[in-house]
Amino acid sequence: MANIDIGIDLGTANTVITLGRKGVVLSEPSAVAYDTRTLEILAVGSEAYDMIGKTPEYIKVVRPLCNGVISDDRMTQFMIRELIERVTGRNLIKPRIIICVPSFITDVEKRAVVEAAMSAGSRKAYLIDEPIAALIGAGVNISLATGNMIVDIGGGTTDVAIVSMNGVVTSHSIKSAGNTIDQAIIRYLQTKYKLLVGERTAERIKFELTNLYDPRDNATMFAKGRNLVSGMPEQVEISELDVFEAVEDEITQIIEAIKKVLEETPPELVGDIYENGILLTGGGALLGGLSKLIERTLKVKCVVAQDTLNCVAKGTAIAFKKVDKLLDGFEHIGVYQYQ
Ligand SMILES: Nc1ncnc2c1ncn2[C@@H]1O[C@H](COP(=O)(O)OP(=O)(O)OP(=O)(O)O)[C@@H](O)[C@H]1O
Ligand SMILES: [Mg+2]
Repeated sequence: MANIDIGIDLGTANTVITLGRKGVVLSEPSAVAYDTRTLEILAVGSEAYDMIGKTPEYIKVVRPLCNGVISDDRMTQFMIRELIERVTGRNLIKPRIIICVPSFITDVEKRAVVEAAMSAGSRKAYLIDEPIAALIGAGVNISLATGNMIVDIGGGTTDVAIVSMNGVVTSHSIKSAGNTIDQAIIRYLQTKYKLLVGERTAERIKFELTNLYDPRDNATMFAKGRNLVSGMPEQVEISELDVFEAVEDEITQIIEAIKKVLEETPPELVGDIYENGILLTGGGALLGGLSKLIERTLKVKCVVAQDTLNCVAKGTAIAFKKVDKLLDGFEHIGVYQYQ
């Protein structure tokens, strides 16, 4: 039986799994679909995600980590187990697992996550902080006595942290992130155009039409939804300026969070940040024009990490090599013997 290391980025929007030397082997939306009458699980991951907004009443799709709380322990545990089994193929391997969990979850919830991983057959599990994993995954050497700033904009949270010598020095976490940006677009279209669009349409608008640096009113696309007055389907032409206005408040919150962390950081380390710049990771790092806007507003260099959606998962994989050296980022949960 082989010993294999598995790294898991348990994200509110996406779960990404790495397997030994193969690197990233799975990336699926964190979603579960189940039958509300029998509680039978019908689908996990992208199959469940594709059902959002399209199910009959007795089928419910939950995104168990979506709103900054674990809304359903059982679904979360099921999802973790199922996704781990997909990559291990239910083989009798005894993986060590490092899991990166969202910053908001409680100790009890952490324990539930670890137990789910254990029940999928792991021999030992560790938890790692998202900022630590993200920086390692982006290839930053965090063991030096120099400050590195990471801003990870995920689906459910934006985590801002300054890391030096393998530990988090200052950090702050807010709920303004991918999901709240989608919701802001939905609200804006309702108010300005009386157009009701679904979550997935709002997300597509965000991908295609966000320009936070120099939004233009002649860069447009059609948004499809339902007119709230007539109740009929409708499409409305919207511009980058619309999206900018819709998301401006959320983006301001993110920039304020970065400022707050900089203000609370010891001066020597802040000096390092001006040298090293700010690293953006997570899906939200791809928001059009965001890094340039941060540079313009804060006058600090800002770069988007390569392969930003997989950074945290890659970091968890690399972290196995550093288990002994990392301080704050790791929490040793315990040794469970595989039977
Ligand atoms: N090209 C893009 N432009 C803008 N946003 C994007 C892009 N690609 C993905 N996103 C957004 O990134 C978010 C998902 O990012 P990510 O996978 O890093 O989140 P997560 O790790 O699951 O969440 P969290 O870290 O909060 O637990 C979603 O809100 C998605 O809409
Ligand atoms: Mg994340």
